[in-house]
Amino acid sequence: MASLIIANWKMNPKTAKEAKKIFFGIASGFRKIKKAQAVICPPPAFLSLFIGKAKKVKLGAQNCHWEEKGAFTGEMSLAQIKDIGCRYVLAGHSERRKLFGETDEMINKKVLAALQIGLIPVLCMGETAEEKEEEMTFRVLKEQLEKGLNGVAKKAADKVILAYEPVWAIGTGKVCGASQAEEVNIFLKKALTEKYGRKIADSISILYGGSVKSDNVLSFVKDAKMSGVLVGGASLDPKEFIKIVQAADF
Ligand code: PGA
Repeated sequence: MASLIIANWKMNPKTAKEAKKIFFGIASGFRKIKKAQAVICPPPAFLSLFIGKAKKVKLGAQNCHWEEKGAFTGEMSLAQIKDIGCRYVLAGHSERRKLFGETDEMINKKVLAALQIGLIPVLCMGETAEEKEEEMTFRVLKEQLEKGLNGVAKKAADKVILAYEPVWAIGTGKVCGASQAEEVNIFLKKALTEKYGRKIADSISILYGGSVKSDNVLSFVKDAKMSGVLVGGASLDPKEFIKIVQAADF
């Protein structure tokens, strides 16, 4: 399976001009990429600037609301996200969980609603530094996986993407070692196999996220055998982002 590289710009950059510079920098660098695939998740205010602007780069939203429509000031529905041309949507990023109080139940509603409308949800999960210290990583992941995928039927499960993003590695420069990432990869595959069977589990991409750069991406996509990476900070630098994609282009 070709590697999938997702760029999460978070609430960056400040201006449309800057956003275009990054986006078109990535799009032009992408011409030399053979197999790897990329999804860019710009902030919602800039999303529509990029619809249909790059053939090889897909677009995703960083967040969504699960309700179809209505009085939810400030929210973006999945129908709106789909209508402007996005194919992917992040669900349960640790910043949403921590800073905006998203619970596993809310995240599950987003995953279900995204699948229902035909979008690909990227379910993010990961342990905090304290949880890692207390050796709770696998317990936390199991719970986030179970609750996040609650009610996802076998026939829809292969549309889901998982992203293992240890909270302590996000934006910190502290990278998860290849062996820990591989252990988590195996653990999640096993949990998915128990839930959906081997064939479906094998078709579900599991990404790594947290301080990914061009000089460490291979430890995830090669050594830990993950299906790709979710990149925050480094995705705001088109040259560095393309280097990441190139490294994973095999
Ligand atoms: P980072 O962010 O690459 O800046 O650590 C990753 C993420 O939050 O998805």
